[in-house]
Amino acid sequence: MHIARTIEDLREHLAAYRRPAFVPTMGNLHDGHLDLVSKAKPLGDVTVASIFVNRLQFLPHEDFDTYPRTWDSDCEKLRAAGCDVLFAPDEKVLYPEPQTFKVHPDPALGDILEGHFRPGFFTGVCTVVMKLFCCVQPRVAMFGKKDYQQLMVIRQMVRQFALPIEIVGVKTTRADDGLALSSRNGYLSEAERAEAVQLSQALRAMAEAVRSGERDFAAIEARGMAALRERGWQPDYLVLRRRSDLQAPAAGEALVALAAARLGGTRLIDNLEIDG
Ligand code: PAF
Repeated sequence: MHIARTIEDLREHLAAYRRPAFVPTMGNLHDGHLDLVSKAKPLGDVTVASIFVNRLQFLPHEDFDTYPRTWDSDCEKLRAAGCDVLFAPDEKVLYPEPQTFKVHPDPALGDILEGHFRPGFFTGVCTVVMKLFCCVQPRVAMFGKKDYQQLMVIRQMVRQFALPIEIVGVKTTRADDGLALSSRNGYLSEAERAEAVQLSQALRAMAEAVRSGERDFAAIEARGMAALRERGWQPDYLVLRRRSDLQAPAAGEALVALAAARLGGTRLIDNLEIDG
């Protein structure tokens, strides 16, 4: 695996390839990331991952400084997963001057849910992903469905800027008990880790209620929020939305249940598409 620290070196290494398949990450890799890499491999003629903890997508009170940086084990995991090129710029390489020119997503999608509770988050994500796309110039890029809204925002950005990149959404990887894998799960204490599965269970309960014919979505959401609060969680949202644009659904539309909640000091997100 070649490690490129600069844009010039990256471009030199990719010059011979026509179809780079790209997995952008912030490191602290888990099996979900490695699944993105293995799914990327057959889709391109070279597999590229990036590790860059992007300051622009963290609010001032968030965990940018403490976000786990696990360089050696990340490199080992990427090598074992068959990654060909790792792009690992430092901040001076990716942001050599203050990044005042930014990509702002459509507020209708970017300012709701995650964007409401983390203002500016999707501007930070879009700006870095656009910049990483400019550096790597992939033909295909992989994003986990665990960050459901992020995947939708990126798809819209790629569509509206006519970027020649196929965006592939990959099913969430879960632990045996159902907890969605996340780099932030490492913040959980043993007791919190045991409790954390309740978030995916809350989503499953919402899906069950819909499948069994309940149509008072507000009541389903309120019940889920109350159940989590009773267990000591601080939920930001637990909602049923239509899949096409994450707005409030009308009857008969394909649905997704989305949740974000804090357990102790750790904020977790998850979602579940609801079939029929
Ligand atoms: O999902 C992530 O890890 C990040 O938001 C991304 C896409 C790598 C941009 O920093």
